[in-house]
Parts: sequence; C-alpha cells; structure tokens
Amino acid sequence: MLAAMNSSTTFPRTRLRRPRMAGWSRALVAEHHLLVEDLIWPIFVAQRRQDCGAIATMPDVSRLSMAQAIAAAQEAQALGIRAIALFPCTPPDKKSADAAQALNPDNLVCQTVKAIKAAVPEIGIICDVALDPYTSHGHDGLLDAHGEVDNDATVAMLCQQAVVQARAGCDVVAPSDMMDGRVGAIRDALDAAGFSHTMILSYAVKYASAFYGPFRDAVGSKSALGKADKRTYQMNPANAREARQEAAMDVAEGADWLMVKPGMPYLDIIRDIAQSNGVPVMAYQVSGEYAAIRFAANAGALDYQSAMMESLLAFKRAGASAIFTYAARDVARWIASP
Ligand code: PBG
Repeated sequence: MLAAMNSSTTFPRTRLRRPRMAGWSRALVAEHHLLVEDLIWPIFVAQRRQDCGAIATMPDVSRLSMAQAIAAAQEAQALGIRAIALFPCTPPDKKSADAAQALNPDNLVCQTVKAIKAAVPEIGIICDVALDPYTSHGHDGLLDAHGEVDNDATVAMLCQQAVVQARAGCDVVAPSDMMDGRVGAIRDALDAAGFSHTMILSYAVKYASAFYGPFRDAVGSKSALGKADKRTYQMNPANAREARQEAAMDVAEGADWLMVKPGMPYLDIIRDIAQSNGVPVMAYQVSGEYAAIRFAANAGALDYQSAMMESLLAFKRAGASAIFTYAARDVARWIASP
C-alpha cells in the first residue's frame, strides 16, 4: 500500500507552501480571476427629487435621478463595466393593487432605459420583471380574493411588462418574481411582439432571504410589504434539490441565463446549478451582503477592498459567469489600479 503511493504527493518532497512563496508564482497558478467584464452594476433610479440621495442601509449607494443614472451608465462604460441593472423607486401615489404602472410605457424604468440607450448605446441594460415596485401591498404579483399571490394572473401581467420594457430598449428582461411558468410565457410574448433577440435572465433560484432588507428600503417596498413575507413564491433556504428543479424548468422554458440569489450564503447552489445546466449562471451579491461588508468595514472590523474582492472571487470559483454587485464601480477601479 505504502509502496504504491506516489512519493511526490507526500511531505517533505511535496511542500505546498513552495509555490506560495512569491507573488509571481502565486499568480502563475491562480485558478480563477475576477475581471471587470464579470461585473453587472445594479442602479436605483427615482423620479421625485425628494426620493433621490443616500440609502441609509447601503453605504455609498444612492437613488439616482435620471440625469445621474445617465452619468452612472457613462461612468460604467468608461470603467469597462459591460452591463447595468435598473431598479425603479416608485412614488407611493403611483403604486396600486393592480400594479398598473408596471405597464405604462412612460414609467420611470422605461424612460431611464430610453435615456441611457440614447446616451450610452453599447452598454447592456437589464430590467427586473416583477410587480413589487408597483404594488401597494409590496408583493411581486397580483393578489386573489383570498389575499394569495395569484400565479397565473401575475404571469399574464409579467408578459406585458416584459414587452413594454423590451419596447423601451432593454436588452435583457430578468423575471425576479418566482411565479411558475413565467419564463416560457414571457418568451412567447416577446417573440410574438417581435422581440426574439431580447434575452431572458431568469431569477430561477431565488430564496426567501433576510438579505434583501436594504434593497426593500431602497425601492420603498419594505413599508408596503409590512409584516408579510414572500415565502409562498421565493424558495426555502433549506432546499437545494428544489433549486435544480427550478433551474431545469426555466432552461426548458427558454431562459438564456440563470440567476442564483442571494450569493455568498448560496455558493453551493451556484456550483450545483452551473454544473448541472448548460446555460451561464449569474450570482447576485444582494443588498444585505453588500451592507454587511460595508458596515463591518466602516466599523473597522474588515478591510472593504480585500473583503469585497475575496467575496466576488468566491463567486467565480463557484462557477458564476457574471456577478451583480453594488460595489461594481469600486471593484472596476481596483481592478484597473490594484
Ligand atoms: C424584487 C427584487 C428583490 C431584489 C431584486 N429584485 C427584492 C425582493 O424580492 O424582495 C433583491 C435585491 C437585493 O437585495 O439586492 N423582485
């Protein structure tokens, strides 16, 4: 047994510290790299002047005016960030139980898409497809007579929302609502409306997570949602097998890309979905993950740059093709001048 063992795998002939001794040799054998091309920058836009500005629970992230959003897209482009994701903060008087504003071709998100496309035509624009920015009750879908989120009525609405956003010029629609069957229905609706080139990034595996808290502050859906939760449509954090089922269904329905969300607590799921489906998987480092790192850094417990870079590299190691992160602009700068 011992004789059969390859002596080169044993100490002291093998010393794994040997290639770790110098920067140049560590670099030669690095297995994964974080590139600026991996980054997608989520941006919050607001219509009313009083809604623009700092978000208390997300250090250094603001709700932007339209003009600031255009400037942000230009900045992203200059830094080499290839895509942004837009999230609207809808004023309370534009929210309703039927989320009608989601279908208004002149709503904030559509106006922002048009303005950014005109100013920065090469940047990819991703828009969320879900009703929560527009519902007075804060849910991602329409409610039935019993107060339950009505799957099929919601899907019909999401199809129209996706077409409205595609018509405004958005490149990728990203259903984040977790209704069943929406990817196939949206694909059919887009194709029928002449948008066969509009991609679908499905939030296929989205957990009912506590880590979305700061995002809900940012878009104003937290107060709308109140004590309610999204556990009848978002996934139970206990489940991994179910994630494969969600991903497989969305691939079969025509998803171009899949999303796993949140990111860092779910690296096992990113790895599993990236290996078991033939489509690229993206990771979302969500608002609560960003806030955790930023607040810890602000308290002196962590170094922001190194903790952030390490957490994003972990997504690459797990198998993510691209990463949504609120730190995208900082990271692009660090990559450009380490
Ligand atoms: C809404 C949506 C959410 C996020 C992205 N799209 C919040 C939610 O589902 O309540 C969360 C993003 C983040 O926390 O950064 N459908």
